[in-house]
Amino acid sequence: MLRSLSHLLGIEGLTRDEILFILDQAKPFQEFQRNPLKKLAALRGKSVALAFFESSTRTRISFATAAARLGADTMNLQAEASSLKKGESLSDTIRTIEAMRPDGFVIRHSSSGAAAFIAERVEVPVLNAGDGTHEHPTQALLDALTIRDRKGKLEGLNIAILGDIIHSRVARSNIHLLSKFGVRITLCGPPMWVPREFESMVPNIRRTTCIEEALRDADIVMVLRVQTERLHEPALAPEEYILRYQLTRERLRLARPDALVLHPGPMIRGLEIDPAVADGPQSAVLEQVTNGLAVRMALLYHLIGRAPLDAPHPAKDRSNASD
Ligand code: NCD
Repeated sequence: MLRSLSHLLGIEGLTRDEILFILDQAKPFQEFQRNPLKKLAALRGKSVALAFFESSTRTRISFATAAARLGADTMNLQAEASSLKKGESLSDTIRTIEAMRPDGFVIRHSSSGAAAFIAERVEVPVLNAGDGTHEHPTQALLDALTIRDRKGKLEGLNIAILGDIIHSRVARSNIHLLSKFGVRITLCGPPMWVPREFESMVPNIRRTTCIEEALRDADIVMVLRVQTERLHEPALAPEEYILRYQLTRERLRLARPDALVLHPGPMIRGLEIDPAVADGPQSAVLEQVTNGLAVRMALLYHLIGRAPLDAPHPAKDRSNASD
């Protein structure tokens, strides 16, 4: 039996059926993005607080657009321009926003566990838009939607995840999600970024420092952003990283001929990925962005609209069109 989710804090605690439900609900919202009129009334009268304590481009715009396309209003907190800079605590900031009666929170924060901390303190649903190095569940869901669209399934695929795994909430959420569907996962990067603990995180996972080995037989190649500020040690100088780990066209040939290339963005062209690969025929980077809207619409609709699991789909039900 599916339960209605009250928050979306991470992928780890979701079941396969819950993940499939979200992906299936996102499907009609994918079609919907192609409509000339992109506005529904499903969340009319609702307000979504977008509390981004850490900078973000695509995730913030994606959530704001998803809310607007469902007819909701947004309340925006921007860390750079908020009282946080004046020393206010996280719980005071959240309680202040809550006093303005939002119907849900979307949270991005640099501390792992911040979304769960807030979920314990507010009465309304909380969606985690990335907390520290912990999880980024909507990113993993949009990646899964992209993979399932292109490959027709998740089960039995091989994925290589390349780069700074230990600091990546995107990697962590994807590992949890994909392992629930029996995807075989190979992590690859400099040894300090792919420590041994990952071998016991989920079944069917291995690690290597050799990119050629990681790419062999891969159906999916996920490239993570390299945070340039971490490239300070001699063994990790940018030139060294490029030489050993950049996804180049030549290296991509080691993967399956129809292997799909994913990157959550922001992408540092010429560092972790060769621009020819980023813009090449195997790249699904922009499709990921479009799918992000569909996944976030599905989640906002179910969590904030508290829609019954068997409600008619708003992108199919004409009574939901906005006037
Ligand atoms: C990621 C993030 O912020 O976790 N970006 C995103 O949300 N698409 C990845 C990153 O910043 O490297």
